[in-house]
Amino acid sequence: MASVPSLASSVDQRIAAALASALPEAGAADPLLRRSDRADFQANGILALAKKAKANPRELATTVVAGLDKGGVIEEIEVSGPGFLNITVADRAIVETLAARAADDRLGVPVSETAGTTVIDYAQPNVAKEMHVGHLRSAVIGAAMVEILEFTGETVVRRHHIGDWGTQFGMLIQYLLEHPHELDHKAADESVEESGEEAMSNLNRLYKASRAKFDSDEEFKTRARARVVDLQAGDEQTLALWQRFVDESKIYFYSVFDKLDMDIQDPDIVGESGYNDMLVETCRLLEESGVAVRSEGALCVFFDDIKGPDGNPTPLIVQKSDGGFGYAATDLSAIRDRVGNLKANSLVYVVDARQSLHFKMVFETARRAGWLNEDTHAYQLAFGTVLGADGKPFKTREGETVRLVDLLDEAVDRATAVVRDKADKAGLTEQEIVENGRYVGIGAVKYADLSTSASRDYKFDLDQMVSLNGDTSVYLQYAYARIRSIQRRLAGVAPKAHPELPLAPAERAMGLHLDGFGELIADAAKEYAPHKLAAYLYQLASHLTAFYDQCPVMKADTPEQQENRLFLIDLTARTLSKGMSLLGIRTPEKL
Ligand code: ARG
Repeated sequence: MASVPSLASSVDQRIAAALASALPEAGAADPLLRRSDRADFQANGILALAKKAKANPRELATTVVAGLDKGGVIEEIEVSGPGFLNITVADRAIVETLAARAADDRLGVPVSETAGTTVIDYAQPNVAKEMHVGHLRSAVIGAAMVEILEFTGETVVRRHHIGDWGTQFGMLIQYLLEHPHELDHKAADESVEESGEEAMSNLNRLYKASRAKFDSDEEFKTRARARVVDLQAGDEQTLALWQRFVDESKIYFYSVFDKLDMDIQDPDIVGESGYNDMLVETCRLLEESGVAVRSEGALCVFFDDIKGPDGNPTPLIVQKSDGGFGYAATDLSAIRDRVGNLKANSLVYVVDARQSLHFKMVFETARRAGWLNEDTHAYQLAFGTVLGADGKPFKTREGETVRLVDLLDEAVDRATAVVRDKADKAGLTEQEIVENGRYVGIGAVKYADLSTSASRDYKFDLDQMVSLNGDTSVYLQYAYARIRSIQRRLAGVAPKAHPELPLAPAERAMGLHLDGFGELIADAAKEYAPHKLAAYLYQLASHLTAFYDQCPVMKADTPEQQENRLFLIDLTARTLSKGMSLLGIRTPEKL
């Protein structure tokens, strides 16, 4: 494990050093290095620094160039315009750096020096309810963030805050008590495990039946309400029935996560009920410290800047006037647990943007209570709404929420058709077609979600998602498989870096992009922005397309050039597959 400094960072350091001796009063000034179309990099920082020091920017730039230690990294540097620097790095430096990356398991990506512990709250469906596209977003974005953060060396604790508590369970449990066989496993052969579909259809049926009874039968309603009290009081029989709902739901959740090719572990599922023991104390602490106050019997936290449409302050209600605890009390208790017991430095919540006000109030309350501070911060990685082709929130024609499993199945069907179309050429067996269809279909759904910034709404458009052209996962998966196919055809030739060879423009461009992988990962982790990784991979695949146009591998000019090109595409393949795996997307070897 050797981390490799990027060329950008060594160029940056060299210019910063020259700048510091040319203009000592500027201190450790940032040369503001950027990738550029004119040269490899452009440094734009001199202009502002010269202005501040009342110096002539072009003169300052010239002095910097004269005093620069190029160190074999910088091939050419020139002053341009009013005082920019255009920098070209040496071909040799590019290939040598990439060779160092290739020699490292981590592709030279450093482990963060400031790594700490992050608790990430994601993939949190609700018990006895169908999962919908909102739950998909949380799961997909959250899982990608987990991987990206872990790759930077962060300790990550996953928390699936499932909705497993609340008054609706009174109705469900009471109904089950009165119809004890409703959740029975229906398979004729009891040794066959219940499928997720069966579990959900059982739950759905029960939900509908109990709802109907609740709405039409006053006496049942009364019994259901009494059942809530029993549940909260921890009555054993009631809890046992509640547990059956949770278990049945988990069978369903796991089947969906499995479809999503996502690994969710039981100990990480700590639902709302997991914090029940803390609720009373959370309220006591808030009330004693004066953070929360009683208002019309309820325990409330008020905020100057949060008001309802009538102009009256909208409080966060921690405890209702009837003594019941809600969503907020649970989330506040979860913060205490995550900071106090799990020792988190960062709390990330991958939750729908429509819950932003809730989190704003919860975080502010926790800060006032001292549970969050400068060392421990909380962040809602808020995501937008999934829209249908018509640009409205995604619904079926009948106006119902679309079942997540139906969507996933359809994505896999379409992807399988795409894969099958090319299967002869790729030499795929039937089994490989089925397997790849799944990886391409699920990858398409994940990538569509991850390639736009989370906060934005996006259209769920399966045709676009499985398209071979454009910014899709299939395009990236094909880019990867094409490299593998070339490598198979040239199996007798070992990839080898040749720093002595001059590089073609497309090789330089791809090489410099590969060299930026580590910095990109650090950015995506710091900003909680998996879409940046998706964009990086798409650019990499585009560089690869340009490379194929200009730099034949099979028909290279010399054996050395062929080895060098094989080396470049091998590192590209590894970077693609690493990046895709961080996004939760597979890269089949043949496609
Ligand atoms: N179960 C909730 C829902 O489906 C999401 C939970 C989010 N996490 C949390 N800590 N509140 O909307």
